[in-house]
Amino acid sequence: MPVHSLTPILLCLLPVWIILTPGSCHPQLSPCQLIQRSALCNNANLSSVPSGLPHNTEELQLNFNHIQTLQDDSFLGYPSLKTLSFACNSLEKLESNTFQNSKLLESLNLANNKLYIGYAETSYALKKLPGLKALDLSENELHDEFVTILLQNLTSIEYLNLSGNLLQRLDETSFSDLHQLKELDLQRNIMFELDGAFNSNPKLQRLNLAFNYLPCLTDFHMTQLVVLNVSHNFIEWFISNDLNETFQLETLDLSNNKLLFFPFLPSHSKLRNLHLSHNSIRFYDHLTDNGTSLNSTTTVEFYNLKNHMRNVTAQLWDDGLHGDISSLEILDLRGNQVEYFPVGFIQKMPTLSRLQMCTNCLETLNLTSEQFSGSLYELDISNNRLNQIVSDKGTLTTLGNLTYFNLSLNFLERLPSRLFSSLPSLRSVDLSYNHINICLSEEAEISTDSACVDWKNVVSLGQLYLKGCNIKIIPSAAFTGLLLTHLELSDNPRLIIQQSIQTLSRTLQHLGLGNTHIQDFDFSLFTSLKFLNMSQNSLAHLPPSLLNLDLEVLDLRDNRLSTIPSGLANALATKLHIVFLTGNPFNCCQTEWFRTFETTKTINVVGLSDIECEDPLRETYRVQGLQPSVCSEESGESIFWYILLFVPLCFSFVGISIIAVLTFKPKMLQKSIKKRCLKPTSY
Ligand SMILES: *[C@@H]1O[C@H](CO)[C@@H](O)[C@H](O)[C@H]1NC(C)=O
Ligand SMILES: *[C@@H]1O[C@H](CO)[C@@H](O)[C@H](O)[C@H]1NC(C)=O
Ligand SMILES: *[C@@H]1O[C@H](CO)[C@@H](O)[C@H](O)[C@H]1NC(C)=O
Ligand SMILES: *[C@@H]1O[C@H](CO)[C@@H](O)[C@H](O)[C@H]1NC(C)=O
Ligand SMILES: *[C@@H]1O[C@H](CO)[C@@H](O)[C@H](O)[C@H]1NC(C)=O
Ligand SMILES: *[C@@H]1O[C@H](CO)[C@@H](O)[C@H](O)[C@H]1NC(C)=O
Ligand SMILES: *[C@@H]1O[C@H](CO)[C@@H](O)[C@H](O)[C@H]1NC(C)=O
Ligand SMILES: *[C@@H]1O[C@H](CO)[C@@H](O)[C@H](O)[C@H]1NC(C)=O
Ligand SMILES: *[C@@H]1O[C@H](CO)[C@@H](O)[C@H](O)[C@H]1NC(C)=O
Ligand SMILES: *[C@@H]1O[C@H](CO)[C@@H](O)[C@H](O)[C@H]1NC(C)=O
Ligand SMILES: *[C@@H]1O[C@H](CO)[C@@H](O)[C@H](O)[C@H]1NC(C)=O
Ligand SMILES: *[C@@H]1O[C@H](CO)[C@@H](O)[C@H](O)[C@H]1NC(C)=O
Repeated sequence: MPVHSLTPILLCLLPVWIILTPGSCHPQLSPCQLIQRSALCNNANLSSVPSGLPHNTEELQLNFNHIQTLQDDSFLGYPSLKTLSFACNSLEKLESNTFQNSKLLESLNLANNKLYIGYAETSYALKKLPGLKALDLSENELHDEFVTILLQNLTSIEYLNLSGNLLQRLDETSFSDLHQLKELDLQRNIMFELDGAFNSNPKLQRLNLAFNYLPCLTDFHMTQLVVLNVSHNFIEWFISNDLNETFQLETLDLSNNKLLFFPFLPSHSKLRNLHLSHNSIRFYDHLTDNGTSLNSTTTVEFYNLKNHMRNVTAQLWDDGLHGDISSLEILDLRGNQVEYFPVGFIQKMPTLSRLQMCTNCLETLNLTSEQFSGSLYELDISNNRLNQIVSDKGTLTTLGNLTYFNLSLNFLERLPSRLFSSLPSLRSVDLSYNHINICLSEEAEISTDSACVDWKNVVSLGQLYLKGCNIKIIPSAAFTGLLLTHLELSDNPRLIIQQSIQTLSRTLQHLGLGNTHIQDFDFSLFTSLKFLNMSQNSLAHLPPSLLNLDLEVLDLRDNRLSTIPSGLANALATKLHIVFLTGNPFNCCQTEWFRTFETTKTINVVGLSDIECEDPLRETYRVQGLQPSVCSEESGESIFWYILLFVPLCFSFVGISIIAVLTFKPKMLQKSIKKRCLKPTSY
């Protein structure tokens, strides 16, 4: 027997072997894997810290075990420990002298345990660690006061993780001893108030408050903070203290909150990434012009639990003040209610590289007056109410870095003429779901604003999405000079493609022709094609030219295919990774292709069990597990009728015979049997 057939079994047994050894008769084998000075004892069904590991072990991992208590003598034998990890045990407490001999410990991970039970004794143990820098107490069901007690006097901590606990309210006492704290993770608690909680942490740089219940952040004055994440709260107000000091803030995540106003940012900051998606932000400039009627509502009053009232003055209606956004590179405003940009707003961001405005209420965009910077790389204004985009040629030449341009899901009918050919870095354009026409020949040159689009000779363009644009004709020269790899033309139900896409045959990898009523098309030159969508086209048979392609994804849903010729099926099955075939009236009597696809391991037939076929009587069956009898000469149903007719006849014949036999003499019966049996057979 060849040896290699045994090795997989041995490999499978190895982990079991390692787990079993402590209890077996080989005490010298440890349940841990030793790599240099690390002992990895994860997932080893241990209920206590293993003894007998090397004296100089520096890292000990005991994640996913069943340890309940760490005892005073647990680590006596390992004085060199620097890193200890006990995540996902059932730890209830650490005895107060657990770390009496662990003066070098720097990192302690106690995530996902039950320290809420023995937090008081545990707090004594932690105080014996003079060099502790990183502490993970996440997911331990800890309440406010437990945390305050656990963290008392832990002056050396730099990284603290308290995520997934039961914290509700923090104040000055919560972290008052953590003078070295640099990073704090408080996400996924139930916090609704922070009252001066970080006043004693002058070095804090990264703070995560995501997934809590905070209603506002006012008087924000943490000038040293670099990353602040307050996403997924209930924040209506973000107002920073107007200090004459530069804030170090670079990333601010306020996404998924309830903001009505653009946040009131510090007046001097280094903010580069501002995430505001999924709020209710809009601009109110148009209300201020008329002035007088709104002058009483510029001050907002905030109260906290201790009933300390604080007046925060913010000039609510003046969009001239957005704080310092001059270093912004990413502005994510997806899913808000922005109708327009205030005058000069875009100009304030000379290094803006990504503007994400998908799903807002923009009605027009004047690229000339907004003055986007030359560093603009991505402009996503999809799913707005745009009916007009205005620009002149000079403006377009400044957008030399624009690479991704998404205009889909708007009401655009006209675009600045030569829009795309003026953008030399353009790589991807999405115009889907607008009412766009493609220019015939030189039509585009006539005016500055034109009712058709063209992209002649934009050699950088690789991806063009024109789904659902109600396009009827693509002129034969529409794609000349392009090197497209992606072309999406689906959902243009009356499309006439002519010869237009033949010029793309060598470069095209992704071609979407779903719901275009395309019929016979010659794909034989499209040698690079990997993805082809031909769904919803009433195709009665597959184009034979598919045979020569190296397709990986093929969508043939909702056509009128009755079979796939076995030669084509065999060729496709070896190359395809994903195929969609549901919604076709396949013929139950010609389903060899199905076995081919079903038995090929490398192909994923999406909705395999939902593929149906019809028998000659137009009854529908699932192809998977189809009985061959469905397709015998007379189909199953007609056999059934024959049987129905035949059974009463048989019964009456048998009945008559029995009566006859009983009325004649039984001797005759014997005789007739004998006679028959003695008769020589006819073969
Ligand atoms: C884990 O250890 C306990 C005793 O500590 C034992 O009863 C149990 O069978 C062990 N489980 C496995 C999977 O080895
Ligand atoms: C914490 O430190 C202070 C001063 O350094 C000391 O007085 C106090 O006893 C310490 N508390 C505990 C519980 O060790
Ligand atoms: C904090 O712990 C949670 C859960 O254990 C984890 O998902 C998160 O990544 C940790 N945070 C940091 C900053 O490591
Ligand atoms: C903020 O935290 C959430 C939850 O952990 C995370 O999904 C998101 O990516 C973070 N934001 C940033 C800008 O890192
Ligand atoms: C802000 O500080 C700068 C110098 O740091 C100073 O010149 C300026 O007058 C200050 N402005 C205000 C309003 O205090
Ligand atoms: C302010 O004036 C503009 C015209 O200048 C007008 O369209 C708008 O309705 C006015 N707004 C209010 C709140 O009066
Ligand atoms: C706005 O303020 C001015 C003076 O500050 C006052 O005369 C006017 O009545 C105020 N308007 C309203 C609507 O309160
Ligand atoms: C806040 O402002 C209101 C109205 O302007 C005033 O009545 C109140 O005294 C102020 N409160 C504080 C704490 O300044
Ligand atoms: C677009 O902005 C430019 C410059 O501000 C202006 O001259 C032009 O009239 C604007 N076009 C439209 C249609 O608003
Ligand atoms: C495009 O971006 C690069 C840096 O990414 C920058 O050097 C260049 O000046 C930008 N182009 C324009 C036209 O601003
Ligand atoms: C353009 O935006 C739409 C809607 O936001 C989105 O579905 C589509 O995937 C985007 N197109 C590209 C090419 O990313
Ligand atoms: C093919 O196009 C149809 C019609 O637009 C669409 O519904 C389907 O999701 C597309 N298939 C794939 C695999 O993208």
